[in-house]
Order: sequence, then C-alpha cells, then structure tokens
Amino acid sequence: MTLRTTAFPLPPGPRGRSLFGQLREFRENPVEFLTRLARDYGDVAQFRLGRRRVVQLNDPELIHEVLVARHRSFHKTGVLTRAKPVLGNGLVTIDGDLHLKRRRLIQPAFNRQSIPHYIAHITTPAADVSGGWRPGQRVELADEMNRLTLRIILRALFDCDAVADDSHIEDALTTVLRHFNRLLIDPKWAALSKLPLPAARQYRNAQQLLDSFVRGLIQQRRAESQSHHDVLSILLQAHEGESGKIRLTDDEVRDEVMTLLTAGHETIATALTWTWHALSQHPEIESQMHQEVDSVLQGRKPTFDDLKNLRYTRMVLAESMRMYPPVWGITRLAMEDLQLGGYAIPKGTVVGMTQYVTHRDPRYFPNPEHFDPTRWARGDEAAGPKSGYFPFGGGPRLCIGEPFAWAEGIVVLATIAQAWRIRSVGTEAVRYEPMITLRPKNGIAAVVERREENFAARNKSRNHLVDAL
Ligand code: HEM
Repeated sequence: MTLRTTAFPLPPGPRGRSLFGQLREFRENPVEFLTRLARDYGDVAQFRLGRRRVVQLNDPELIHEVLVARHRSFHKTGVLTRAKPVLGNGLVTIDGDLHLKRRRLIQPAFNRQSIPHYIAHITTPAADVSGGWRPGQRVELADEMNRLTLRIILRALFDCDAVADDSHIEDALTTVLRHFNRLLIDPKWAALSKLPLPAARQYRNAQQLLDSFVRGLIQQRRAESQSHHDVLSILLQAHEGESGKIRLTDDEVRDEVMTLLTAGHETIATALTWTWHALSQHPEIESQMHQEVDSVLQGRKPTFDDLKNLRYTRMVLAESMRMYPPVWGITRLAMEDLQLGGYAIPKGTVVGMTQYVTHRDPRYFPNPEHFDPTRWARGDEAAGPKSGYFPFGGGPRLCIGEPFAWAEGIVVLATIAQAWRIRSVGTEAVRYEPMITLRPKNGIAAVVERREENFAARNKSRNHLVDAL
C-alpha cells in the first residue's frame, strides 16, 4: 500500500554539513557512527550518504516489519550488486520472484534433514586442526578459523577430499574472496580491477581456475550415477513443477556455488574467532562448556544427535553472536513511499538495521556489555528479529545457511574444546573492524594449551576398560 508520506514527518537526524552528508564520519567507523546515531536521535533516525537518504531502525518491531511483515515493499540494496563479478546471479544478489523461485529450489540443501549428512564434513577438518596443534603453539585465531571453515565449506559443497586438499583451489578461493571484499569496500576497485595491475591479474587467473574447476565438477556429476552427500548434488537434482522440468542450469549452479562459498565461510569463521576470544576472557564459562563437552562426548567425535545435548555450547555461540554479530548490519531499499514508526520513508530510502547496535541495547538485553550465555537458557536465540536478536536476518531472506552454521559452530567448538584451551595473548584490548563481517582488527594472537585434566581423565577411563577386559 502506498501512503501519502507528507502526512508524516521525516525521521530526526544530524544536519548535513557538506554535500556528502555524513559520508566521512560513516566511513571512518560505521558501527560507532550508527551507535551514536541511535543514542542521539532514537529508534528511527536518518542521515545522508552523499545524495542517498539512509534511515536506521533500532526497534525490533520495526525491524520485523521491514524484514518479515512488509518485506514486499523492500529490495536488497546496491552494495552487493558490486559483487556480481564474483557471485553472478546467485541467491544473495537476486530479488523479487526470481529470488523466491531460486530459494525454493535451493532450500532442500539446507533443510534440517540435510544437516546430518554434513556433520562428517565438519568433524574431519576440525579434528585435523585440533590434531595438528602442539602444546604452547602460538596461533593467529582469525586465520586459523578462516582456513578451517574454508575447508569445511569446500567439503560440504563438493564431498571430495581431493578438493579440500588441493591447495591450488584453496589459494584461488582466498584470492577471489579478497577481491570480493575489496569490491564491496572500495567503490573504485570494480574499475581498477579491469586494468593490467598485478592484483587484478592475480584475481582474474584465480577466478578462471575456480570457474573451470566448478564447471568441470558440474559436468562430471551430471555424467555419473553415483550419489554424493553434498550441496552440489542437491543443487543438481533440485527441480520444481509437476514434470520436474524446472531445474538449475549449469550457469545458475555455478553462481550459487560461488555465493555459498563466499557467504558460508568468513561469517562462521568470524563467529568462532570471537567465541574463542570470549571464552579465553571468561574461564568460568569456558570451564562449564568443557564440562558439557566432556560429559556429552566422552572423548569421541560429535555426531548430529549430540547437537541437542550440547546446549550450553550453543548458548555460548549465541551470546558471542549477540556481542560480536558477524554480519553487523543489513540494508533494504524502500520500493514505495511508506511510513515506519510514525515517520515518512520516501521511496528510494535505504533502510538500515544494525545488529551490533540493537544487540547491545539495554532495553532488549539487560547489562549488554556483559558476556552471559545464560541469557539464552530459554532458547530465545530462535525467536527472530521481533526479539531484537537477528544475527541471521529474518523473513524470506533469512540466512539459508543458518541451520548449517549452528551445526558447524557447535561441532567445531566441541571438537577443539575437548583437547584445547585457547588463550588470547595480546596485551591490548582487541578492537573490531567493521568490514563485510565484524572482524577483529589485526586478528587475535593466541596460544593453545593442552587440556591435561581431560586427557588424564580419558586415559584413566581407558585403563579401567582395559582392566575390566
Ligand atoms: C555465523 C554464520 C553466518 C551468519 C552470521 C550469517 C548471516 C547472514 C545474514 C544476516 C543474512 C541475511 C542478509 C540480508 O538479509 O540482507 C544471510 C544471508 C545468506 N547467507 Fe548467511 N550467515 C552465516 C552463515 C552462512 C552459511 C554457513 C551459509 C552457506 C553455507 C550462508 C549462506 C547465506 C546465503 C546464500 C544468504 C542469502 C539468502 C537469501 O537472500 O535468500 N550463510 N546470512
């Protein structure tokens, strides 16, 4: 429904001092800027980025309206379209009916029934990382988690050890992801990357290698009859309509694969990195998590059935994504004149919802600067944007990988925590850097310590077993 927006006032906000509005302050640190905006101007506040009017919402009811109840009045905004050279027309960059149709086709790959098939793709690389560390080893947590989640997503997509172990593919993907981040952050990079610069050439080579690798796999899979427990098989089999004739073309599968590789890797790596850091700062919480992991797993690898019993571990992850939401903000474009919270939102306004700001608002999360997993004891992490907690967004564009991300996060935490205690070692407080994800600025240096008490207990129970035999 289109409203006469003149009946409502525009939201309050800072007056633009220059032609560029608040562009400079926003660019310096968008998260700090948006936190100040909510504090100074309230739950519906506007500012300008150049000629673009942006309205930030910090009221869960209104966020629910935009993402869920009135989602048809909004589209995703332009920044991600800059990533089209990498993502093509994948789920993240398409809109409207095309998006709905595509989402229906892909959904089976991430249904709850599919998740059990992916658990081994998570436990194997996690156990490899855990098995490869030496007591007292210094690690850079963000790098370590990025490498691990890259291996996991490659296996989950392609069910193929050779792929995960092929460093060429990993290196090419890392190069393409670097280019992807740069495309989103630096508006000039799209043009620069067409020039014969070394970084641009490196990207083009990496993209070519990945493209021919993905297309080769698609052709191979279309030709063979063997079934695989991976996302690629489900994408290739996905169909719609009674005759099953509507299927994804090779180009569409390629675009979705690139989309899932990018969306499903750095996000969860960032969540895990902050979680280890928080555990390192809260030994009592860490110890409670260790107790749960030890008693549920009894020294073995986690299975799908263990997930429901690793409840405290899930609460720790939920609390980490409250304080350090990997996706720190999302935006929509108003496709018509409308009103929100009593304010006019003219067509063409960018509407922003900032997880970092809402997740730290004391009205919705008492004592918000305190890391407290018990606030999730009632299972509220599944309540969605209406509750003020929306690390995975909401509505028809809710993160399709959410069930996978929870499983991955819990399984990685449990696998590594069985053997290791991770201690951050930097002397300065870790600061965040709001890039595509909320990264720790300069990473997090840490030392891994063997959990001797766990090993002693495990050996003891093994000896009892031997005695009994
Ligand atoms: C902790 C990990 C993750 C977080 C915090 C996260 C967060 C999000 C958020 C907030 C959105 C919605 C963006 C919007 O509404 O504009 C989203 C969308 C998406 N995510 Fe995730 N994500 C995570 C992991 C994953 C994983 C593991 C995958 C794939 C395996 C994935 C694939 C996607 C895709 C394809 C979309 C687009 C969905 C659509 O528009 O229909 N994400 N994610």
